[in-house]
Amino acid sequence: MFKSSDVLDAMKWRYACKKFDTTKKVPEEIIDDLLQTINLTATSLGMQLLKVVVIRDQELKERFLEHAYKQQQVVDCSHLLVLCRYNSVDEVLVDEYVSRSAKTRNIDLASPKIQGFRNMVLSTVSQPNDKKIQWMTNQVYIALGNLMTACAMMRIDSCPMEGFNPRGVDELLGLHELGLASVLLFPIGYRHCEDVYADYPKVRRSISDFVVEL
Ligand SMILES: Cc1cc2nc3c(=O)[nH]c(=O)nc-3n(C[C@H](O)[C@H](O)[C@H](O)COP(=O)(O)O)c2cc1C
Repeated sequence: MFKSSDVLDAMKWRYACKKFDTTKKVPEEIIDDLLQTINLTATSLGMQLLKVVVIRDQELKERFLEHAYKQQQVVDCSHLLVLCRYNSVDEVLVDEYVSRSAKTRNIDLASPKIQGFRNMVLSTVSQPNDKKIQWMTNQVYIALGNLMTACAMMRIDSCPMEGFNPRGVDELLGLHELGLASVLLFPIGYRHCEDVYADYPKVRRSISDFVVEL
């Protein structure tokens, strides 16, 4: 069982890594645990309209540089994760999800409970497209939060990145053909001993300014 101070220590240890040590690789068993951890992220209605692309190939990582404002983290990291949302969601996806839920929990698909759930999900996904895109994007940010915390607890360094051109990345990875769109880049690895950002004091508001007690 973690102590609350263990979590706080991890949050203090974490920073947005600007320079990774190119000689160090995150072991694949840790990557597996991390991917399972993100897969457990809570999502709206549990629909998981997101996916994670894992990039290990050095040449492919290098091709991200031009799409990420030359931020070197995308190249020097051990693994580059691309957090993506779905491009669309339709009745077929809803039915797949509802069937999986019924099967996993051993509930009759035709039961009023499951059919009521199906109707609720269908009404949510019948919103206008721009709202749906925002809704799916929000889920990716929840996954980002979990990922940053999970990495910090495992003492894996990371950098959350919005500073890239999603169109360029989507094209590079052929994401459109996979029904996906990139939302965030998430390079992970181990900090370089010369990354000055590691020792910068955190710039945060005081707790008394940050918390509203009513
Ligand atoms: C959604 C999001 C996007 C970010 N995009 C970038 C980025 O493109 N490049 C970068 O170096 N840092 C990026 N950052 C890191 C922030 O600048 C950093 O988290 C913030 O300044 C606080 O510093 P700390 O995380 O080191 O405590 C991003 C952070 C978040 C949460």
